[in-house]
Amino acid sequence: MRIELAPSILSADFARLADALAAIEAGGADVVHVDVMDGHFVPNLTIGPPVVAALKKATRLPLDCHLMIENADRWIAPFADAGAARLSVHVEACPHLHRTIQAIRAAGMKAGAALNPATPVESLREIAADLDFVVVMSVNPGFGGQSFIPGSLDKIRRVAALGAERGAAPLIQVDGGVSVRNVAELVRAGAGSLVAGAAVCGAADPVAAARALRAAAEAA
Ligand code: DX5
Ligand code: ZN
Repeated sequence: MRIELAPSILSADFARLADALAAIEAGGADVVHVDVMDGHFVPNLTIGPPVVAALKKATRLPLDCHLMIENADRWIAPFADAGAARLSVHVEACPHLHRTIQAIRAAGMKAGAALNPATPVESLREIAADLDFVVVMSVNPGFGGQSFIPGSLDKIRRVAALGAERGAAPLIQVDGGVSVRNVAELVRAGAGSLVAGAAVCGAADPVAAARALRAAAEAA
């Protein structure tokens, strides 16, 4: 299986997002990861639908929007209209997760559920078969450039096992602290999608950094 490379623009220069997108494409990425934060669910504010609509015009890559927000249901249509191809929502912020996942799919997008580091894999049991992807947060969400939480590696294995048990094989995306130093073990644990912010858009040469991540993932 080809490993998906999903650079996050969170570490890019927000005044030069088109340059970041060009570097992400030249580096061989598969999707662009867009971190949406509301200042409530997480202690930071970032990007909303108008910026996603502008990104959509500036890249041919699918936009993978990671909603770290409360009231996600209210924002499904605006992100669909802005051109998002995928939406992930947080289990901790969605009391009616099944309804939310169905609504994302009904809006024509792939649907993912994200787990904070302290949230058990078991919380996905009843929804696993309805998910296109699962986001294993390997940092506490809110900021780029944090250190990978080592226990996330085993969590990826347990998400894969739960999927198999439920007759499903959602793509497993790992998000936070991903770098050339850990991609091989992440891929071996079952990660199929690698989000990388600081390691790509925060690098001196984002194109080379993306290519290096891809090479390390493929060598796993
Ligand atoms: C964290 C975000 C991540 C972040 C990853 O809240 O969800 O996507 O951009 O950035 P790095 O790779 O720098 O940890
Ligand atoms: Zn993210």
